[in-house]
Amino acid sequence: MARKIVVTSALPYANGPIHIGHLVEYLQTDIWVRFQKARGNLCLYFCADDTHGTPVMIRAREDGIEPEELIERVHAEHIRDFTKFSIRFDNYYSTHSEENRQFSELLYKRAVDNNSIAKRDVEQAYCVQCDMWLPDRYIRGSCPRCKAPDQYGDSCDACGGTHRPTELIEPVCANCGTEPIRRTSVHYFFKLGDYTDRLKKLIESGHTQKSVLNKLNEWFDAGLRDWDISRDGPYFGFKIPGEENKFFYVWLDAPIGYMASCKNYCDRHNLDFDKVWNSNEYELYHFIGKDIMYFHALFWPAMLISAKFKTADKLFVHGFLTVNGQKMSKSKGTFIKAETYLAHLDPQYLRYYYATKLTSGIEDIDLNFDDFITKINSDLVGKLANLASRSVPMLTKKLDGTLGRLDQKGAKLVRILQGAKEGIIADFEELNYAAAMRTISALADESNRYFDRQQPWETIKTDPEKTRATLTAAINAAKILTIYLKPVLPAYAETVERFLKIGPLGYADVDSVLEEHTIGRFERLVERVEKEKVEAMINQSKEQAPDATPDAQAASVEPIEPECSIEDFMKVDLRIAEVISAEPVEGADKLLRLQLDVGNVKKIVLAGIAKAYKPADLIGKKVVCVANLKPRKMKFGVSEGMILAAGPGDKDIFMLTVDEGAKPGQRVH
Ligand code: MSP
Ligand code: ZN
Repeated sequence: MARKIVVTSALPYANGPIHIGHLVEYLQTDIWVRFQKARGNLCLYFCADDTHGTPVMIRAREDGIEPEELIERVHAEHIRDFTKFSIRFDNYYSTHSEENRQFSELLYKRAVDNNSIAKRDVEQAYCVQCDMWLPDRYIRGSCPRCKAPDQYGDSCDACGGTHRPTELIEPVCANCGTEPIRRTSVHYFFKLGDYTDRLKKLIESGHTQKSVLNKLNEWFDAGLRDWDISRDGPYFGFKIPGEENKFFYVWLDAPIGYMASCKNYCDRHNLDFDKVWNSNEYELYHFIGKDIMYFHALFWPAMLISAKFKTADKLFVHGFLTVNGQKMSKSKGTFIKAETYLAHLDPQYLRYYYATKLTSGIEDIDLNFDDFITKINSDLVGKLANLASRSVPMLTKKLDGTLGRLDQKGAKLVRILQGAKEGIIADFEELNYAAAMRTISALADESNRYFDRQQPWETIKTDPEKTRATLTAAINAAKILTIYLKPVLPAYAETVERFLKIGPLGYADVDSVLEEHTIGRFERLVERVEKEKVEAMINQSKEQAPDATPDAQAASVEPIEPECSIEDFMKVDLRIAEVISAEPVEGADKLLRLQLDVGNVKKIVLAGIAKAYKPADLIGKKVVCVANLKPRKMKFGVSEGMILAAGPGDKDIFMLTVDEGAKPGQRVH
């Protein structure tokens, strides 16, 4: 009987772009989900953006927008990147949603009711200038041990030591450089320690991989401490019921986002959430990286147990991505955003490459670019795609595109390929993609050897029917390999299905042989990787690094956006405007609030030019204003227009000013 399965990946933070490190996880999960679907199981894949917390709040402030606007934009960017990598969620939702608020309140309330919540005073750093509580990572100062300057509040990059933020020498707010003060307030705690026995039992029953057990046991041995689940405002998150200025800590509502995404899907598809999420009819699996194990192996199941929800059947933990043997690094150009990758390389390469590296272990996964180029060019292009590209065009050009019947040798080859099915299925099921890919690659070798021995390019001259039998075997081999590769390379599989003129391939099709069937015209499956493109991608990533030289930055060329018609462009109504007043905007160091005289109307415009112009120098200046821009609600007020200014950013922004004699409100072109 078909299984019913719910799968989640960790929710990426909404304060930044998807990068190739994240993709290890989303590709690992997507391959597994596609595999389950291909097996005929019902498998639902849920994810969402993790939208709350301090980093999102700070990013939004920097950009001078509301957090809501930031998370909406990032949500669209994340979906765009995932889609291009063929990562197919059944629902990609947001933790900033009504469903998530309700579940967060529900789990919290149940925790209160069963006496799992305590209140305690907490002293914490607070920046008066930024009006913000400072998490450890937002305090910088000299290391108490080695005196290295400019270290984080929790650890030192120079000597590797860990410390408390209070121990830093001359601590400052990472955001504004002011010395933080210490303030005490009441916080809520989840009494994790009360769940120790139940968590131990869960872990011992095989909740995670064996390789994770050591780490978990270390934590159990150290004793589970109560978990601080509240943050005082200002904070971007959900208010704690019954409190005015206290919010749930982002990590409380983040995993609950799995439930919210599922619930939102169920409501839209007429499914019973309680059954899908909380019954034994459905299996439940979480995929995560090893950095967030504490949250998922301890806090999350404890919260679920407390609220009387079932816990996942399994937590699958994976290792971290290294690039050329080292941590991803902005300055080395190995911190590669999904978007940058896509500007240079085919997403199928990465899907294939990661699949060849992924196992069920938690070891780090290395993306070595020389190895990447070799694997793609010699295995994917040279073996797998090659088998189809040397047999399909020959059949269509020389033999009317019609398959014959397998001869003895051909049948033997096909049987070998069929015989690998159960092993490959077991490897995918157990997350041993690397093993499955090795088998697939060996089968491609076998098939190409068969092709070489049969020499169809020779036999075609004298014996067309023997050649047809050879090509029939080769094409059947290509078909079976495509089925095996399909969870990894869905786009490749779709192309093969199209030119072989066969319906969506599933595992059942491994056992049926394609004979006396007319196929269509060959389409190219995948191109070779060019080393230059990999280099260009790394160079572009280097240029995006914050400390890149201006020269390098100038050389960085982003792809041009889709066309906008002259009709669209002509909708922009440009008018001369006189700056009546200009003032800084508190809390937003890039913005100036300008009052403009645009002839018959006055407009308030928030302009991101504070680093380039002094307010006093602007008064009386005649500038060009987009007079019909729809007013936009920003964090620091409504902006009713825009002035024409452009540049790479910060100090280098240049405002278009016009002759002193120009009349406010005058139309310009
Ligand atoms: N928002 C949290 C997760 C909340 S889940 C309720 C978070 N977000 S993240 O964007 O930092 O990471 C999302 C997932 O990507 C995590 O599982 C993380 O382990 C994984 N990875 C992020 N960088 C990675 C690498 N460099 N390598 C492999 N996986 C990585 O954590
Ligand atoms: Zn500050």
